[in-house]
Amino acid sequence: MKTVKNKTALITGASSGIGEAFAYELAKQGVNLILTARSEGKLNLLANKISSDYKVKVTVFTGDLLQKDTPFKLYDQIKQAGLSVDLLINNAGFGKWANFLDESIQQYEDMIEVNINALVKLCHLVLPDMLKKGEGGIINVASTGALQPCPYVAAYCASKSFVLNFSEALYGEYNKKGIAITALCPGNTTTGFQSIAKANTNGMSADTPELVAKQGINALLKNRSFKIVGVMNYAQSFLPRFLTRKAMINVVSGMMNGKVNG
Ligand SMILES: NC(=O)c1ccc[n+]([C@@H]2O[C@H](COP(=O)([O-])OP(=O)(O)OC[C@H]3O[C@@H](n4cnc5c(N)ncnc54)[C@H](OP(=O)(O)O)[C@@H]3O)[C@@H](O)[C@H]2O)c1
Repeated sequence: MKTVKNKTALITGASSGIGEAFAYELAKQGVNLILTARSEGKLNLLANKISSDYKVKVTVFTGDLLQKDTPFKLYDQIKQAGLSVDLLINNAGFGKWANFLDESIQQYEDMIEVNINALVKLCHLVLPDMLKKGEGGIINVASTGALQPCPYVAAYCASKSFVLNFSEALYGEYNKKGIAITALCPGNTTTGFQSIAKANTNGMSADTPELVAKQGINALLKNRSFKIVGVMNYAQSFLPRFLTRKAMINVVSGMMNGKVNG
């Protein structure tokens, strides 16, 4: 994908944080938007603001990705509106920072539904249309937590490891057919994520959602299979190559135990 101008992007989790930043950044670059999340009010406000500031078309479809059929309903709504997705930003997601047993199994099922199942379904729905056009782009939002096992954030980081591996595997299958696929790995980013995750990020550096969105779009346009946001996060991503797997678990365990139980 050489340019995103005049394309149509579907952004999940567009009502706040990184998704909202993607909406602004893509609108700035002349991309028509399809915004989705559960918060109808926030999405409509955002759509009105973007449509008045930029010459792009913005469509809102609300939906709860915890419901297994939402991705299919969303795809049908998009087709019925005569739209087609050139660029998919699979961004909706949430995490929990907690001792594994302190969260209910329902919470983990929900996390897997939104972070993994909905993302896989949306890729499966839009890829055939992109292949027909011989062009398309997908950014799947993973995390730096995807790069190693994370005790005390076990299920969330494992869900993001799935996103990273799945996206890179899709890149291996479809990039040669004209589809750009980037797994985006932000580190700690100032959004609504921390309060939902009950994440104690005191003392941790943080990036802005705007930086994450910009780096994600640049990486896609450069045909990168993955992008780690921020220089420090990139440097730290080499640690698992130098330490044994057990040593890496111990490093993260020490850090995160202090954050969750400290
Ligand atoms: N912030 C960080 O430090 C960080 C770091 C690495 C990766 N990430 C990833 O970045 C992505 C975006 O998160 P964020 O940081 O921007 O957090 P955020 O501000 O909490 O945004 C999360 C978005 O996901 C949507 N969402 C959550 N559950 C949903 C559901 N059941 N159905 C539909 N939409 C749902 C939310 O919309 P509604 O509530 O309106 O539905 C919201 O728009 C997530 O995948 C997150 O895991 C974040």
